Amino acid sequence: MRPFSFYNPTRLYFGAGQLNQLSAEAAKRGKNVLLVYGGGSIKRNGLYDQVIEKLNEAGSTITELAGVEPNPRITTVHRGQQLCKEHNIDWVLAVGGGSTIDCAKAIVAAAKFDGDFWDVIINKATVQDALPLGTVLTLAATGSEMNTNSVISNAETLEKHGWGSPFVSPAFSILDPAFTASAPKDHTVYGMVDMMAHVFEQYFHHDAATPVQDGFSESIMRAVIEVAPKLVDDLTNLQYRETILYSGTMALNGVLSMGIVGDWANHDMEHAVSAVYDIPHGGGLAILFPNWMKYVLDDNVARFKQFAVNVFGVSDDGRSDREMALEGIEKLRAFWNSIGAPSRLADYGIDDSRLEEMAEKVTGSGTRGNFRKLTKEDVIAIYRMSL
Ligand code: NZQ
Ligand code: ZN
Repeated sequence: MRPFSFYNPTRLYFGAGQLNQLSAEAAKRGKNVLLVYGGGSIKRNGLYDQVIEKLNEAGSTITELAGVEPNPRITTVHRGQQLCKEHNIDWVLAVGGGSTIDCAKAIVAAAKFDGDFWDVIINKATVQDALPLGTVLTLAATGSEMNTNSVISNAETLEKHGWGSPFVSPAFSILDPAFTASAPKDHTVYGMVDMMAHVFEQYFHHDAATPVQDGFSESIMRAVIEVAPKLVDDLTNLQYRETILYSGTMALNGVLSMGIVGDWANHDMEHAVSAVYDIPHGGGLAILFPNWMKYVLDDNVARFKQFAVNVFGVSDDGRSDREMALEGIEKLRAFWNSIGAPSRLADYGIDDSRLEEMAEKVTGSGTRGNFRKLTKEDVIAIYRMSL
């Protein structure tokens, strides 16, 4: 284990009825709220009306920013920045999935920032302050509801970058499985792939003596593998939704990375694909991750064997560690296929014409990842395996 410090200031309200906490939280944060949401799912499932009612109970003056895109755009952040300044906004409430929350994170920081917030996204400027942020989550996937990260896209330059700041940690997040029950099958599946990918990014490392972290990670992976097939056949089952919702938050709220250094190359490779082709994040990860695993397997066969045995129950049968490790990776691919995740870039109509351009976004002239430091050529090779 490596030395670490851990701090997570988000107050989590989890379970049925927790939206009742919204009025009290709103009253604490100030009168003028910017309500940020996506393309309309919260209007269709009735959550919008419930949120407005709670904000009215608190006496809030509500300004709205609707239409946050999946893979949220910097142009929407700029609109939010302007609304905050024009309406003297005290705090921001994001109601939606990871895209809405990520956009709201950028807006709370942009409200206290003079200039083009894209400079922060590309690391040319840093955040010094932010408005308070609250969230009501509607999709189990990114963990954005309880972390400091945000991912913003630029449709003009075809860039998509993660950035983060302790100033944009949600002050509170309300998670009720019922709010996720209307998520369609495809986004439910992408979300489950994403949370598993978050666990992988933190599980595949070379540090010794991390049995507690390994146990946390393996437990989340086994729970998702057990519940995912049941959930895709029964999308409104709240007990399944609850397990998946809790898994998604725990997968990326900092708990799993205590004492270890994660890899994150797959996320960078996926962000480059979705920057150019605007595909869903979880779909891209489902395509890339098993190929990365095969590509780097020989760097630490024991780690992949542990994954195969403890997560997928692969048994010895007198085979080599490598054969067992490979079976674990095959079982992952088969599992994701079985719940309807894509397995090839061709599933999104992506061919080999822009592999070099995407790889350049991932590594530039350097490397990406920690489990193995991938060069641009490595990234191109993994993209090729994924065609
Ligand atoms: O926009 P609406 O109408 O709300 O519809 C959304 C959207 O079309 C829909 N949806 C969400 N909840 C629903 C629902 N539809 C019906 N009922 C519900 N309850 O689902 C679609 C996808 O939503 P989105 O927010 O884009 O999905 P997700 O939560 O997967 O977020 C993806 C974004 O997060 C970034 C990704 O790169 C991508 O930009 N990530 C953010 C991370 C973070 N902040 O920590 C980490 C991740 O690795 C990831 O990179
Ligand atoms: Zn992710």
